[in-house]
Amino acid sequence: MSEGAAKKEERRKFQAIKGTRDLLPPETALWNRVEQTAHAIFSTFGFGEIRVPIFEPTELFARSIGQDTDVVSKEMYSFADGDETSVSLRPEATASVCRAYIEHGMQSLAQPVKLYYMGPMFRRERPQKGRYRQFYQIGAEVLGGSDAPAIDAEVIEMVMTFFDRLELQGVQLDINSIGCRECRPKYVELLRAELLKVKEKLGADSQRRIETNPLRVLDSKLESEQSIIAKLPHIADHLCEDCATHYAAVKHQLEMRGVIYRENWRLVRGLDYYMRTTFEITAQGLGSQNAVCGGGRYDGLVELLGGPPTKGIGFAIGEDRLILSLQESGKVPAPKGRDVYIAWMGEKARATAIRAAKHLRKAGFSVELPPVEQRFGKALGQADKLGARFALILGDNEVSEGLWTLKTLADGSQTKFTEADLLEHLRKSV
Ligand code: HAM
Repeated sequence: MSEGAAKKEERRKFQAIKGTRDLLPPETALWNRVEQTAHAIFSTFGFGEIRVPIFEPTELFARSIGQDTDVVSKEMYSFADGDETSVSLRPEATASVCRAYIEHGMQSLAQPVKLYYMGPMFRRERPQKGRYRQFYQIGAEVLGGSDAPAIDAEVIEMVMTFFDRLELQGVQLDINSIGCRECRPKYVELLRAELLKVKEKLGADSQRRIETNPLRVLDSKLESEQSIIAKLPHIADHLCEDCATHYAAVKHQLEMRGVIYRENWRLVRGLDYYMRTTFEITAQGLGSQNAVCGGGRYDGLVELLGGPPTKGIGFAIGEDRLILSLQESGKVPAPKGRDVYIAWMGEKARATAIRAAKHLRKAGFSVELPPVEQRFGKALGQADKLGARFALILGDNEVSEGLWTLKTLADGSQTKFTEADLLEHLRKSV
């Protein structure tokens, strides 16, 4: 590299890696509100928070999600750890939660164990609106106990309650049953046979999937394939008796809870661990990446990972998409400016200002205390820029009189208060 090029390289401005982004205030206030609402709602359903590592052995994800899925075969960030074992950044958290359930012997706790999590996930997908390489999920899993359809329904009810509390708009819940180890293989064979009859009319991706995973053909968004797919056999007509009974009961249980759903026989999901109930929720304002939540039942996954036979069901919400949808529909609280800007002048006032800031912050107000003395005009201008509601004016007069001036910035009115009265006044008006 020439000296010039090296210098240029040194001065290079860094940018966030493609598909990753910074979340900044005031938007982060909305993220916090969403997360606090999740903590509050999920705990009313008896869920406790679990925090699992950001990276795990690659094998954990390969075995759970499936070697041939897009997530595992194309999208994982994997690297050799020091001793050459391959580790991967987590593309999702269900596998980790099941690993933790086994590792901590949670089958000996009262069943089912109800856990939720939130945090970043990583998939090397083509970035676009609502699709990132580092994205955030809020998810929940119910492990152990029975596979009672009421559990499926309650998990779905919980996520719908959460969306309702956030006033998410245009929420649409789609459900399906994809059968079990007994009935699904037979349906997949039937589907494969039907697809082979129309192979020539399908696109390259679907043609390949006839061999690898015919169910994924049902996922196709390709316009030219839609009329062909519409004529394929529905899985609901090929469920075994147990799966059919389970599916009917899940629908009944949803109705008992007042949860409105749409049956979508083409909803198959892209991860291998699912069986029986699958669901997806879409919301408004998201364009093509409109799935804001996906989930389903995964009995057998814990066993596949070396644990005891265990029932499981859960979901994950795409938090980035949830936030986008809330923003698009204007369901965003106005950014909160400072409550009080302390405009102080003089050394005596500085000491009083420091004390006032301490007391006001202790009482829960958001306070800006300028680090250096400013002329009052400049201080008020600054208070305005920060969207402060009040300016507390502390000069020599105020300090010696023990009467502090509070200016309401919206209308410019000023009132004098003793320290105690000021706190009382602010409590009533903020
Ligand atoms: P998933 O459908 O792969 O399921 O992801 C769940 C949600 O995460 C999606 O509906 C979407 O909102 C969001 N999401 C996925 N990929 C991206 C991305 N690249 N950018 C932004 N958002 C994204 C799972 O992950 C399962 N573990 C869910 C589950 C839990 N099933 C049972 N328990």
